[in-house]
Amino acid sequence: MCSIVIILIIGILVSLQSLTQAENCSFFSEESLKFPKDFSFGVSTSAYQIEGAWNADNKGPSIWDVFTHNHQDKIKDESNGDIALDSYNNFDLDLKALKHLNVDFYRFSIAWTRIYPNGDISSRNQKGIDYYNNMIDKILANGIKPVITMYHWDLPYEIQKFGGFTNSLIVEQFLTYAEELFENFGDRVKTWITFNEPNQICKLGYGIGVFPPAINLPGVGDYLCYFNLLKAHGATYRLYQSKFFEKQGGKVGITLDTIFGFSKTNNNADVDRIMQYSLGLLAHPIYSKSGGFPKIMVEDIQKNSLQEGRRKSRLPIFDEFWRTTVQGSADFLGLNYYTSRFVRRAEKPCFESPSMDRDADIETSVEPEWLMGKSEWLYSVPEGLEGLLKYIRDEYNNVEVMITENGWSDDGELEDDNRVRYFKNHIQAVMNAVNEGCNVTSYSAWTLVDNFEWLKGYTEKFGLYSVDLTSEKKERIPKNSALFYKNVIETRTIPCDS
Ligand SMILES: *[C@@H]1O[C@H](CO)[C@@H](O)[C@H](O)[C@H]1NC(C)=O
Repeated sequence: MCSIVIILIIGILVSLQSLTQAENCSFFSEESLKFPKDFSFGVSTSAYQIEGAWNADNKGPSIWDVFTHNHQDKIKDESNGDIALDSYNNFDLDLKALKHLNVDFYRFSIAWTRIYPNGDISSRNQKGIDYYNNMIDKILANGIKPVITMYHWDLPYEIQKFGGFTNSLIVEQFLTYAEELFENFGDRVKTWITFNEPNQICKLGYGIGVFPPAINLPGVGDYLCYFNLLKAHGATYRLYQSKFFEKQGGKVGITLDTIFGFSKTNNNADVDRIMQYSLGLLAHPIYSKSGGFPKIMVEDIQKNSLQEGRRKSRLPIFDEFWRTTVQGSADFLGLNYYTSRFVRRAEKPCFESPSMDRDADIETSVEPEWLMGKSEWLYSVPEGLEGLLKYIRDEYNNVEVMITENGWSDDGELEDDNRVRYFKNHIQAVMNAVNEGCNVTSYSAWTLVDNFEWLKGYTEKFGLYSVDLTSEKKERIPKNSALFYKNVIETRTIPCDS
């Protein structure tokens, strides 16, 4: 707890230096410096990035297994997740770190290919179910709540043979898998996230095609993917409500990722345009009163499609059944926030046609003073998080928001002062938003231990803990940021002196 004197002195220093970053030790009442009692803190991971054991105990291949094996050249250090942190065989090491951090919850993902190795119920694999049952029991026995992501990018390869998310078959395929998870784990798991970051799944996987399954169909494949993914999400929510909620009483939501857009000229139309194309295309169908894709997108894409000589829009339209199935199909909005951009309407069309970028028609830029992480896309903009939370509050009827990811990349040093600063400023932004009436109930840091960072392999580190992958014990070593975050969790405040 900060003494009043320190609060005053630091408050004065802050105003003298007119720091733009939020500071906690200022002139607020003590009440507003503490997170509400029921606010919870956690840490997030995903199966492919940490588990390894890529073909152990009957696990089938996912699109990430096949992609990293067939296209080594596409991964910066030509690595893959075959072994990764070997968390599959060493969960106790992760558990020890979770306990050390003192988190309220652990958000992890289930590998579909461990449950159904070829994606279909006919391949049901009891060993995979046993594995996660055991893990969930261990987490709970240590007083930590499990939060499960059902899909974190590792689609069964066999399902991609049908076209993956471009085929509406995915709705039934996902629903069957989801039901298996609710049936086996729902007695103990009370928070479910259907999909992690549809923007990355659809735009990078089926539009630009830089992520597996590497389908390059910009402005067509991506929209089909969003459409089918939203239907799969909505159907899963309805299934839980009709068959499981009464007994299990849990919550089901989805995790969306977006930047926040700032306008240099205070042009709200430009800001709204980027927010609709980045957040609205998923949030509007689920969280708005009317449902369906955002009006601006429906109109733009219809217009562009006709101009391109097509007979109808590249953006599919929900029929009444699916519009109402998807509308209202979430108990909370999971939010992954990393960075922001300045935005403005492009002066002349500067993206390939057709593409989502061409439809959105927005140019983005960054500020020279924004600190950049190891990842070239990652600039520290905590005020973007506060702005985004207020935008969601106003746009989507103050829906409950769980921040399911937020994090910083570097080379992996233990003295990770930039990560400490990033967390400090972003957690402060969350506190500011809570004090402004935003319905944020939890915060989860990305990520527990340095891991396989997709196309960047092991070259960009986001962990609170470090690990020497060549060592025999693979011990998880806390960085300064782990100690900082532990302190936040234990005190429910942001320390003044870091
Ligand atoms: C926060 O979200 C929950 C769940 O959606 C809702 O029941 C509650 O009314 C919201 N709180 C506020 C202050 O809007």
